[in-house]
Amino acid sequence: MRKLATSAIAIGNEIELLMDFAAQTAVAPEISRRERELREQHMQLAHTNRLVAMGELSASIAHEVNQPIAAGRNNVIAALHFLNRDPPDLQEVREALAAAVKDADRVSTIVCRMRALMQKASPRLDPVDINEALQEVIELTRGEALKNGVLVESQLAQGLPVIAGDRVQLQQVALNLILNAVQAMGAVGEGARQMLITSRQIGSNDLYVGVQDTGPGLSPETLSRLFEPFYTTKPNGMGMGLTICRSIVEAHGGRLWVSACQPRGAMFQFAIPARPS
Ligand SMILES: Nc1ncnc2c1ncn2[C@@H]1O[C@H](COP(=O)(O)OP(=O)(O)OP(=O)(O)O)[C@@H](O)[C@H]1O
Ligand SMILES: [Mg+2]
Repeated sequence: MRKLATSAIAIGNEIELLMDFAAQTAVAPEISRRERELREQHMQLAHTNRLVAMGELSASIAHEVNQPIAAGRNNVIAALHFLNRDPPDLQEVREALAAAVKDADRVSTIVCRMRALMQKASPRLDPVDINEALQEVIELTRGEALKNGVLVESQLAQGLPVIAGDRVQLQQVALNLILNAVQAMGAVGEGARQMLITSRQIGSNDLYVGVQDTGPGLSPETLSRLFEPFYTTKPNGMGMGLTICRSIVEAHGGRLWVSACQPRGAMFQFAIPARPS
Protein backbone atom coordinates (compact mmCIF):
# COMPACT_ATOMS: atom_id res chain seq x y z
CA MET A 1 0.00 0.00 0.00
CA ARG A 2 2.78 2.28 1.02
CA LYS A 3 4.70 1.27 -2.07
CA LEU A 4 1.69 2.13 -4.20
CA ALA A 5 1.38 5.51 -2.58
CA THR A 6 5.07 6.26 -3.22
CA SER A 7 4.66 5.21 -6.84
CA ALA A 8 1.60 7.44 -7.16
CA ILE A 9 3.57 10.38 -5.82
CA ALA A 10 6.42 9.60 -8.21
CA ILE A 11 3.99 9.43 -11.14
CA GLY A 12 2.35 12.64 -9.95
CA ASN A 13 5.76 14.32 -9.90
CA GLU A 14 6.51 13.03 -13.35
CA ILE A 15 3.18 14.30 -14.69
CA GLU A 16 3.88 17.66 -13.13
CA LEU A 17 7.31 17.71 -14.76
CA LEU A 18 5.82 16.69 -18.08
CA MET A 19 3.17 19.39 -17.79
CA ASP A 20 5.86 21.93 -16.98
CA PHE A 21 7.84 20.77 -19.96
CA ALA A 22 4.76 20.91 -22.21
CA ALA A 23 3.98 24.41 -20.98
CA GLN A 24 7.59 25.48 -21.62
CA THR A 25 7.69 24.02 -25.11
CA ALA A 26 4.47 25.82 -25.91
CA VAL A 27 5.98 29.09 -24.64
CA ALA A 28 9.39 28.52 -26.23
CA PRO A 29 8.39 29.36 -29.82
CA GLU A 30 6.66 32.48 -28.48
CA ILE A 31 9.85 33.54 -26.65
CA SER A 32 12.08 32.88 -29.64
CA ARG A 33 9.67 34.78 -31.90
CA ARG A 34 9.79 37.72 -29.47
CA GLU A 35 13.59 37.48 -29.31
CA ARG A 36 13.77 37.48 -33.09
CA GLU A 37 11.50 40.51 -33.26
CA LEU A 38 13.56 42.34 -30.66
CA ARG A 39 16.79 41.55 -32.50
CA GLU A 40 15.26 42.81 -35.74
CA GLN A 41 14.03 45.99 -34.04
CA HIS A 42 17.49 46.53 -32.61
CA MET A 43 19.12 46.10 -36.01
CA GLN A 44 16.64 48.52 -37.53
CA LEU A 45 17.37 51.07 -34.81
CA ALA A 46 21.12 50.60 -35.19
CA HIS A 47 20.74 51.12 -38.93
CA THR A 48 18.67 54.28 -38.41
CA ASN A 49 21.29 55.55 -35.97
CA ARG A 50 24.01 54.99 -38.58
CA LEU A 51 21.99 56.82 -41.22
CA VAL A 52 21.39 59.74 -38.84
CA ALA A 53 25.08 59.87 -37.93
CA MET A 54 26.10 59.77 -41.59
CA GLY A 55 23.46 62.44 -42.32
CA GLU A 56 25.13 64.68 -39.76
CA LEU A 57 28.39 64.18 -41.61
CA SER A 58 26.97 64.74 -45.08
CA ALA A 59 27.95 68.40 -45.45
CA SER A 60 31.54 67.84 -44.41
CA ILE A 61 31.82 64.65 -46.47
CA ALA A 62 30.44 66.46 -49.54
CA HIS A 63 33.23 68.98 -49.05
CA GLU A 64 35.75 66.16 -48.61
CA VAL A 65 34.60 64.53 -51.86
CA ASN A 66 34.55 67.80 -53.78
CA GLN A 67 38.20 68.49 -53.09
CA PRO A 68 39.68 65.50 -54.96
CA ILE A 69 37.10 65.96 -57.73
CA ALA A 70 38.27 69.55 -58.22
CA ALA A 71 41.92 68.48 -57.95
CA GLY A 72 41.33 65.68 -60.48
CA ARG A 73 39.74 68.12 -62.90
CA ASN A 74 42.72 70.47 -62.59
CA ASN A 75 45.12 67.60 -63.20
CA VAL A 76 43.25 66.56 -66.35
CA ILE A 77 43.23 70.17 -67.60
CA ALA A 78 46.97 70.32 -66.93
CA ALA A 79 47.47 67.06 -68.87
CA LEU A 80 45.58 68.53 -71.87
CA HIS A 81 47.70 71.64 -71.64
CA PHE A 82 50.97 69.62 -71.69
CA LEU A 83 49.60 67.55 -74.56
CA ASN A 84 48.89 70.68 -76.62
CA ARG A 85 52.48 71.83 -76.35
CA ASP A 86 54.63 71.54 -79.42
CA PRO A 87 56.18 69.05 -78.93
CA PRO A 88 53.88 67.56 -76.28
CA ASP A 89 55.48 67.17 -72.86
CA LEU A 90 54.61 63.53 -72.33
CA GLN A 91 56.40 63.19 -69.00
CA GLU A 92 54.26 66.00 -67.54
CA VAL A 93 51.14 64.49 -69.13
CA ARG A 94 51.91 61.16 -67.48
CA GLU A 95 52.43 62.77 -64.07
CA ALA A 96 49.28 64.85 -64.27
CA LEU A 97 47.18 61.85 -65.29
CA ALA A 98 48.69 59.68 -62.53
CA ALA A 99 47.73 62.39 -60.03
CA ALA A 100 44.19 62.48 -61.49
CA VAL A 101 43.90 58.71 -60.98
CA LYS A 102 44.92 59.14 -57.32
CA ASP A 103 42.25 61.84 -56.91
CA ALA A 104 39.60 59.54 -58.40
CA ASP A 105 40.74 56.70 -56.09
CA ARG A 106 40.36 58.98 -53.09
CA VAL A 107 36.77 59.81 -54.07
CA SER A 108 35.89 56.17 -54.55
CA THR A 109 37.45 55.21 -51.17
CA ILE A 110 35.32 57.79 -49.37
CA VAL A 111 32.17 56.72 -51.20
CA CYS A 112 32.84 53.00 -50.50
CA ARG A 113 33.30 53.68 -46.78
CA MET A 114 30.13 55.71 -46.62
CA ARG A 115 28.22 53.02 -48.46
CA ALA A 116 29.51 50.29 -46.13
CA LEU A 117 28.36 52.25 -43.10
CA MET A 118 24.95 52.98 -44.57
CA GLN A 119 24.18 49.44 -45.67
CA LYS A 120 21.83 47.33 -43.67
CA ALA A 121 23.33 43.96 -42.97
CA SER A 122 23.04 41.25 -40.35
CA PRO A 123 25.78 41.30 -37.72
CA ARG A 124 28.85 39.43 -38.90
CA LEU A 125 31.75 37.73 -37.22
CA ASP A 126 34.80 38.57 -39.28
CA PRO A 127 38.46 39.18 -38.55
CA VAL A 128 38.71 42.90 -37.75
CA ASP A 129 41.87 45.00 -37.66
CA ILE A 130 40.65 47.51 -35.08
CA ASN A 131 43.25 50.18 -35.97
CA GLU A 132 42.34 50.06 -39.64
CA ALA A 133 38.63 50.29 -38.77
CA LEU A 134 39.32 53.28 -36.48
CA GLN A 135 41.49 55.02 -39.09
CA GLU A 136 38.65 54.88 -41.59
CA VAL A 137 36.19 56.47 -39.16
CA ILE A 138 38.77 59.11 -38.19
CA GLU A 139 39.13 59.97 -41.87
CA LEU A 140 35.39 60.12 -42.43
CA THR A 141 34.93 62.47 -39.48
CA ARG A 142 38.02 64.60 -40.21
CA GLY A 143 36.04 67.26 -42.08
CA GLU A 144 33.41 67.49 -39.34
CA ALA A 145 36.14 67.89 -36.69
CA LEU A 146 37.84 70.56 -38.77
CA LYS A 147 34.57 72.42 -39.24
CA ASN A 148 34.13 72.52 -35.45
CA GLY A 149 37.71 73.58 -34.80
CA VAL A 150 38.60 70.25 -33.16
CA LEU A 151 42.18 69.00 -33.30
CA VAL A 152 42.18 65.22 -33.68
CA GLU A 153 45.07 63.11 -32.49
CA SER A 154 45.35 59.36 -32.49
CA GLN A 155 47.66 56.98 -30.67
CA LEU A 156 47.03 53.53 -32.06
CA ALA A 157 49.16 50.74 -30.63
CA GLN A 158 51.12 48.64 -33.09
CA GLY A 159 50.89 44.86 -33.28
CA LEU A 160 47.37 44.50 -31.90
CA PRO A 161 45.78 41.12 -32.56
CA VAL A 162 43.01 40.84 -35.12
CA ILE A 163 39.69 40.41 -33.31
CA ALA A 164 36.53 38.54 -34.27
CA GLY A 165 33.64 40.94 -34.74
CA ASP A 166 31.43 43.02 -36.96
CA ARG A 167 33.58 45.68 -38.56
CA VAL A 168 30.72 48.02 -39.53
CA GLN A 169 29.11 47.81 -36.09
CA LEU A 170 32.42 48.50 -34.33
CA GLN A 171 32.94 51.46 -36.66
CA GLN A 172 29.46 52.63 -35.71
CA VAL A 173 30.52 52.67 -32.05
CA ALA A 174 33.60 54.75 -32.88
CA LEU A 175 31.53 57.04 -35.12
CA ASN A 176 28.96 57.72 -32.38
CA LEU A 177 31.65 58.38 -29.75
CA ILE A 178 33.61 60.68 -32.06
CA LEU A 179 30.48 62.61 -33.10
CA ASN A 180 29.46 63.00 -29.46
CA ALA A 181 32.92 64.34 -28.60
CA VAL A 182 32.89 66.80 -31.52
CA GLN A 183 29.37 67.94 -30.61
CA ALA A 184 30.29 68.32 -26.92
CA MET A 185 33.32 70.45 -27.76
CA GLY A 186 31.43 72.40 -30.42
CA ALA A 187 29.02 73.49 -27.70
CA VAL A 188 31.68 75.11 -25.47
CA GLY A 189 32.76 78.64 -26.17
CA GLU A 190 36.39 78.70 -25.18
CA GLY A 191 39.41 76.52 -24.50
CA ALA A 192 41.31 74.14 -26.73
CA ARG A 193 39.20 71.56 -28.53
CA GLN A 194 41.20 68.38 -28.61
CA MET A 195 40.20 64.81 -29.20
CA LEU A 196 42.48 61.86 -28.58
CA ILE A 197 41.64 58.45 -30.00
CA THR A 198 43.62 55.55 -28.62
CA SER A 199 43.88 51.80 -28.98
CA ARG A 200 45.94 49.48 -26.80
CA GLN A 201 46.09 46.02 -25.38
CA ILE A 202 46.52 45.32 -21.71
CA GLY A 203 48.20 42.00 -21.07
CA SER A 204 46.96 39.40 -23.50
CA ASN A 205 43.35 40.11 -22.72
CA ASP A 206 41.11 42.91 -23.88
CA LEU A 207 41.72 45.52 -26.55
CA TYR A 208 40.89 49.00 -25.29
CA VAL A 209 39.67 51.83 -27.48
CA GLY A 210 39.34 55.31 -26.00
CA VAL A 211 37.83 58.56 -27.25
CA GLN A 212 38.81 61.48 -25.05
CA ASP A 213 37.69 65.07 -25.42
CA THR A 214 38.19 68.47 -23.80
CA GLY A 215 34.47 69.31 -23.78
CA PRO A 216 32.36 70.35 -20.80
CA GLY A 217 32.35 66.84 -19.31
CA LEU A 218 29.28 65.26 -17.76
CA SER A 219 26.92 66.68 -15.16
CA PRO A 220 25.88 64.26 -12.38
CA GLU A 221 22.40 64.03 -13.99
CA THR A 222 23.85 63.17 -17.43
CA LEU A 223 26.37 60.79 -15.91
CA SER A 224 23.63 58.74 -14.31
CA ARG A 225 21.41 58.70 -17.40
CA LEU A 226 23.52 58.87 -20.56
CA PHE A 227 23.19 55.19 -21.43
CA GLU A 228 19.40 55.31 -21.11
CA PRO A 229 17.50 55.01 -24.39
CA PHE A 230 16.27 58.41 -25.65
CA TYR A 231 18.19 60.38 -23.03
CA THR A 232 19.54 63.46 -24.77
CA THR A 233 20.52 67.02 -23.87
CA LYS A 234 20.73 68.08 -27.53
CA PRO A 235 17.93 69.93 -29.30
CA ASN A 236 18.11 67.59 -32.28
CA GLY A 237 19.48 64.51 -30.53
CA MET A 238 17.73 61.17 -30.60
CA GLY A 239 19.45 59.94 -27.46
CA MET A 240 20.08 56.53 -28.94
CA GLY A 241 23.79 56.78 -29.82
CA LEU A 242 25.24 55.48 -26.55
CA THR A 243 22.49 52.93 -25.99
CA ILE A 244 23.32 51.40 -29.37
CA CYS A 245 27.07 51.62 -28.72
CA ARG A 246 26.68 49.75 -25.46
CA SER A 247 24.53 47.03 -26.94
CA ILE A 248 26.97 46.52 -29.86
CA VAL A 249 29.96 46.35 -27.52
CA GLU A 250 28.16 43.93 -25.19
CA ALA A 251 27.14 41.74 -28.14
CA HIS A 252 30.91 41.47 -28.78
CA GLY A 253 31.44 40.31 -25.21
CA GLY A 254 32.88 43.67 -24.21
CA ARG A 255 32.18 46.70 -21.98
CA LEU A 256 31.68 50.42 -22.58
CA TRP A 257 32.08 53.04 -19.89
CA VAL A 258 32.87 56.69 -19.33
CA SER A 259 35.12 58.59 -16.98
CA ALA A 260 35.74 62.24 -16.26
CA CYS A 261 38.98 63.84 -17.48
CA GLN A 262 41.12 66.46 -15.74
CA PRO A 263 40.96 69.42 -15.98
CA ARG A 264 37.85 68.90 -18.14
CA GLY A 265 36.24 66.65 -20.69
CA ALA A 266 35.12 63.07 -20.84
CA MET A 267 36.70 59.81 -21.92
CA PHE A 268 34.61 57.02 -23.33
CA GLN A 269 36.30 53.64 -23.48
CA PHE A 270 35.35 50.23 -24.66
CA ALA A 271 37.08 46.92 -24.22
CA ILE A 272 36.65 43.97 -26.57
CA PRO A 273 38.02 40.52 -25.77
CA ALA A 274 41.05 39.79 -27.94
CA ARG A 275 40.03 36.22 -28.68
CA PRO A 276 41.41 34.99 -31.95
CA SER A 277 39.11 35.15 -34.97
N1 LIG B 1 31.62 63.35 -25.01
C1 LIG B 1 30.58 63.82 -24.33
N2 LIG B 1 30.71 64.91 -23.53
C2 LIG B 1 29.64 65.39 -22.83
N3 LIG B 1 28.41 64.85 -22.85
C3 LIG B 1 28.21 63.77 -23.63
C4 LIG B 1 29.28 63.19 -24.41
N4 LIG B 1 28.78 62.12 -25.06
C5 LIG B 1 27.48 62.03 -24.72
N5 LIG B 1 27.14 63.02 -23.88
C6 LIG B 1 25.81 63.25 -23.27
O1 LIG B 1 25.07 62.03 -23.31
C7 LIG B 1 23.83 62.24 -24.00
C8 LIG B 1 23.42 60.97 -24.71
O2 LIG B 1 24.31 60.70 -25.80
P1 LIG B 1 23.79 59.82 -27.02
O3 LIG B 1 24.91 59.70 -27.99
O4 LIG B 1 23.19 58.57 -26.50
O5 LIG B 1 22.60 60.67 -27.63
P2 LIG B 1 22.69 62.04 -28.44
O6 LIG B 1 24.09 62.30 -28.90
O7 LIG B 1 22.04 63.09 -27.60
O8 LIG B 1 21.75 61.72 -29.69
P3 LIG B 1 22.05 60.68 -30.88
O9 LIG B 1 21.01 59.63 -30.79
O10 LIG B 1 21.94 61.53 -32.12
O11 LIG B 1 23.44 60.13 -30.69
C9 LIG B 1 24.07 63.43 -24.90
O12 LIG B 1 22.88 64.11 -25.24
C10 LIG B 1 25.00 64.29 -24.04
O13 LIG B 1 24.25 65.00 -23.06
MG1 LIG C 1 25.20 60.76 -29.92
